[in-house]
Amino acid sequence: MPRQVALLLFVVSFLHCEGAAVKDELPAADNERPIVGILSQEQSLYLHSKYPEENYTSYIAASYVKHVEAAGARVVPILIGKQREYYRELMKKLNGVLFPGGATYFNQSNGYADAGQHIYEIAIEMNLAGEYFPIFGTCLGFELLIILASGQREPENRVRCYSYTNLPLDFTSDFRSSKMFSGTTKDIIDILSSENVTVNAHQFCIVDQNLEAFNLTDDWRVTSYSDDKHGVQFIASIEHRRFPFYGVQFHPEKISYEWKLSKQYPHSLNAIKSNRHFMDFFVNECRRSLHTFGNVEEENRYAIYNYEAKFTGVLGSQHHDIYFFEPRGIPKDQNSISNINKR
Ligand SMILES: *[C@@H]1O[C@H](CO)[C@@H](O)[C@H](O)[C@H]1NC(C)=O
Ligand SMILES: *[C@@H]1O[C@H](CO)[C@@H](O)[C@H](O)[C@H]1NC(C)=O
Ligand SMILES: *[C@@H]1O[C@H](CO)[C@@H](O)[C@H](O)[C@H]1NC(C)=O
Ligand SMILES: *[C@@H]1O[C@H](CO)[C@@H](O)[C@H](O)[C@H]1NC(C)=O
Repeated sequence: MPRQVALLLFVVSFLHCEGAAVKDELPAADNERPIVGILSQEQSLYLHSKYPEENYTSYIAASYVKHVEAAGARVVPILIGKQREYYRELMKKLNGVLFPGGATYFNQSNGYADAGQHIYEIAIEMNLAGEYFPIFGTCLGFELLIILASGQREPENRVRCYSYTNLPLDFTSDFRSSKMFSGTTKDIIDILSSENVTVNAHQFCIVDQNLEAFNLTDDWRVTSYSDDKHGVQFIASIEHRRFPFYGVQFHPEKISYEWKLSKQYPHSLNAIKSNRHFMDFFVNECRRSLHTFGNVEEENRYAIYNYEAKFTGVLGSQHHDIYFFEPRGIPKDQNSISNINKR
């Protein structure tokens, strides 16, 4: 009898290991105090016109901060225009980084894209060294991830398109075996695939040909598509096969936190429930990272709580509230402030 039990246990554990091979390689999601960095971006001329005296150099829409906080993480703002060491030192203490959407050029020196490149390269080094380090890119941040993965900035590996509307996701046939959607409940998948609950606001898209042209299909796995105004099928969600890097072309953070009437963002319970999934998923990925600040005092020095968001919705901005950073003299080169709505 004991021998049979032992044999049974052996078989059970063998099957368990075989069946769960990929999952077992992941570190456990046991960091219950995750801290996520959110990358800022160049102050726009529009926002500068609202706060002309302050000369802020960068901003983060508060919707991204709140979406991350709602998923159970604290936020540290990451500034643009710093040396690589600044990003490396910060990332040693953070559990993941969010590249938000917005409207800025990728070619401005020491801007959003340069900071993004430092972060992307350092994150790859960390992951290769066995330190789990997730990145999530939203809209412009998703495009940035793919352009960085393409290894060059000019010409940018994305196409013109037009999508300023709420759309459903058209999932790929094997999306259920992806990291982003394998644990998602059926009711959330049903909403995402049948209701107009993903907010699109972009004039560039990443299409299959962009991945193929730069040999990205081995590393990057598409999990859903949507169609632009002219029927162009663009990639709506993607993930890296080896690294915990994720991107979505739409804006999950807007559903609960952006209220500009003319934008017609969906705010139904189904829209809120289904869009929560993306930061819930990402923050849980960040729980696998065991990086920490040295102590609470150090956490406090970097935390977003040191800044006060401004009520910009009342001034007409598409963002209800925004954090601004680093007031300094207006740069002489006006070109370094983006002034068009480029996503
Ligand atoms: C950056 O790109 C924009 C749009 O393609 C272009 O108008 C601008 O001249 C570029 N700036 C630099 C510094 O290359
Ligand atoms: C989604 O929006 C499209 C138009 O953009 C409309 O034709 C379709 O009926 C909508 N679907 C639902 C389920 O509301
Ligand atoms: C993609 O791979 C092919 C075949 O290996 C190679 O010829 C081509 O130069 C690669 N393209 C890029 C952009 O790396
Ligand atoms: C903002 O820039 C203007 C023009 O360079 C300057 O006069 C003003 O003092 C600056 N304000 C701050 C708060 O630095």
